Amino acid sequence: MKVMVVGGGGREHAIIKKIKESNKVSEIFALPGNGGIAQDATCVDIGAKDIDAIVEFAVKTQIDFAVVAPDDPLVLGCVDALNEKGIKTFGPNKAAAIIEGSKVFSKNLMKKYNIPTAQYEVFTDMNAALKYLDTAPIPTVVKADGLALGKGVIIAQTREEAKNAVKSMMEDKVFGESGSSVVIEEFLTGPEVSVLSFTDGETLIPMVSSMDHKRALDNDMGLNTGGMGTVAPNPYYTEEVAKECMEKIFIPTMEAMNKEGRSFSGCLYFGLMLTSDGPKVIEYNCRFGDPETQVVLPLLESDLLEIMLHISDKTLKDADVRFSNGSACCVVMASNGYPGKYETGYEITIPTDKNIYVAGAKLADGKLLTGGGRVLGVTETAPNLKEAIDKAYATVKEVSFANAYYRSDIGAKALKALN
Ligand code: AMP
Ligand code: GLY
Repeated sequence: MKVMVVGGGGREHAIIKKIKESNKVSEIFALPGNGGIAQDATCVDIGAKDIDAIVEFAVKTQIDFAVVAPDDPLVLGCVDALNEKGIKTFGPNKAAAIIEGSKVFSKNLMKKYNIPTAQYEVFTDMNAALKYLDTAPIPTVVKADGLALGKGVIIAQTREEAKNAVKSMMEDKVFGESGSSVVIEEFLTGPEVSVLSFTDGETLIPMVSSMDHKRALDNDMGLNTGGMGTVAPNPYYTEEVAKECMEKIFIPTMEAMNKEGRSFSGCLYFGLMLTSDGPKVIEYNCRFGDPETQVVLPLLESDLLEIMLHISDKTLKDADVRFSNGSACCVVMASNGYPGKYETGYEITIPTDKNIYVAGAKLADGKLLTGGGRVLGVTETAPNLKEAIDKAYATVKEVSFANAYYRSDIGAKALKALN
């Protein structure tokens, strides 16, 4: 089969490497891919948001199966556009992708169907939001309604901070139309768990759980980033918690989307917080998480492409979905300065026999050069978490590029929780 993957980051590299293991696949195209993905797929210079060009390429190239990985094209309706041309696709349609595309939608969905989440209020009028903040419990959380490159969530420790967040979203429009509505919600505490799931709208199969590390510096200090590393499984996600999440969150969400006429097909991501009051949904994503995918897929023992085909045929119940009992650790190596200003263009040396997922790099004269904030992720698997972490950091030492920066404590919190 000719397979096309839309996207060009570390997550897409992990998806492509896994799909490549399938004996069903003959050729893989990445749109746009990146310099590292180019070792595993044919990269085509079409941006992930250029829906018309994506569809045109798929038709012209006679693509048998498409995987749309990033949030933007999903929310823009890339799956609908491909389906219209008869191309089988993995990913939710536009009507279902709204579960990530609008926080107002997802919060109202959870309220309507009694799915546990933080208490909240929705505002479309800035002055009403500011007035509410005069008496709201502090800390509070201000969220832009729409997609905001992962930056639309502000945890405000003071009223002033919360009001500034509201003004920047609703008045200064720092996230454009995404900030026309805001959600102001209760601040929750507890360990966070990411659970990605396969679903075709009838069956839902959770993947192995994981833990992201969002802050730039060790000990969860520094700015929020797109994710500096991950481990799987997440030790806080015990069998008991998993059972509760399945009953109170996962299945109810799948059924709620069906009832709304927005049946979800693809990878539904649950960002959870395990509060003293039980697990609650922090966010839904309509796609594989990044960098969660870089630890979850290496633990998948069955054929990813076959699972995806089953999902697009609505026969997920017949699919073989097996994960190993081992652990995985992904350490992200970034350009020094990220998520602020950083320099790129430095040559990267990587061992070729390892699981390295390239996020931001370009090829120039046959050389791989850094080309982004997050440059790559190094993933290792092992029978237990401690070994996976040690192996990942040993492999990090085999990678080199100028100005490389990485956290030295990925998985440390998880190890502590295990002991
Ligand atoms: P997001 O950009 O939606 O992934 O949110 C970023 C992070 O903000 C989450 O991973 C949480 O750590 C935090 N967060 C979001 N909502 C809440 C909340 N209601 N209470 C506490 N922390 C939150
Ligand atoms: N790692 C969180 C996300 O993919 O949004």
